[in-house]
Amino acid sequence: MRVGVLTGGGDCPGLNAVIRAVVRKGVKTHGFEFVGYRDGWRGPLEGVTMELGIEQCRGILPRGGTILGSSRTNPFKLDNGVGRIKDNLAKDGVDALVAIGGEDTLGVATKLADLGVDVVGVPKTIDNDLSGTDFTFGFDTAVNIATEAIDRLHTTAESHHRVLVVEVMGRHAGWIALHSGIAGGANIVLIPEQPFDIGEVCALVESRFESHYAPILVVSEGAVPREGGDMTLVSGDVDEFGHVRLGGIGDRLAKEIEARTGKEARAVVLGHIQRGGTPTAFDRWLATRFGLQAIDAVAEGDFGTMMALRGTRIDRVPLAEGTGELKLVSPEEYAEAQVFFG
Ligand code: F6P
Repeated sequence: MRVGVLTGGGDCPGLNAVIRAVVRKGVKTHGFEFVGYRDGWRGPLEGVTMELGIEQCRGILPRGGTILGSSRTNPFKLDNGVGRIKDNLAKDGVDALVAIGGEDTLGVATKLADLGVDVVGVPKTIDNDLSGTDFTFGFDTAVNIATEAIDRLHTTAESHHRVLVVEVMGRHAGWIALHSGIAGGANIVLIPEQPFDIGEVCALVESRFESHYAPILVVSEGAVPREGGDMTLVSGDVDEFGHVRLGGIGDRLAKEIEARTGKEARAVVLGHIQRGGTPTAFDRWLATRFGLQAIDAVAEGDFGTMMALRGTRIDRVPLAEGTGELKLVSPEEYAEAQVFFG
């Protein structure tokens, strides 16, 4: 059997660990051959491939990024996209695909599976917002990076009696903000699921100063003020999946807090630092186990499935279960962090 492998969407630490596990077990246990498709769905769409075997996977376990490259190409937005993919798979002699991606890449995989393409999915995203799985790999690394940043910001905020606002990734879901905020002892955490009131935020900032500490706010890039309007968050264009580029909420908050409280406030945007570099041990472990299970699913002909972490087990769930609805922070989970606000 010949198996195509691709990685799509925003990159994330652990992608290479999945590729390595898929190829190692695929070759050694199942006797498969592999084709690497470059840059997400662009690879099978345009027939852009690279050699992929055990040799290409040597030394990549701890490496961030993806040796296959990535893109946000959406074949369903292009003329005869599905037909072109099917033609290229046939031309390359590829019998099955392993697609590693988030809601968009796996959303495409879900539709392709319905259209007769033999595909299994592996969930990835630093945002941890895919349903069906307890965690996605990449998330733990992002949370650790954000937590280290918060730890460092505490000491400089104290020294200068300043407010420090840390903007982290998280378009629709506040998982990175919530986990790093709790782990780093943030004084306020703002997430997309819970629109914030700027007056309440300023009151918490002031109460923190009253106890002679400097406040650290962690804010997801997708957080929105309750009153809407005024604090615009959008910068840039829409990608092929219709997502706007977010950014700027940290800066807007810092300016607003400074204007309302008279306390000096600065913003730090962690941005792509959260996505780059070496994965944590947990993410390597999870990515590797997803990869091993994915290639077994291919061998068993269990297509249209996505790998999912359930407790400590790796299960297979229908692709649609992972991509149907985003996994968001519940009010109860948010309330746990609120105990530490102010
Ligand atoms: O979906 C993962 C993610 O890192 C989001 O948190 C973020 O909004 C987005 O990707 C950024 O995308 P890009 O790398 O294309 O700017």
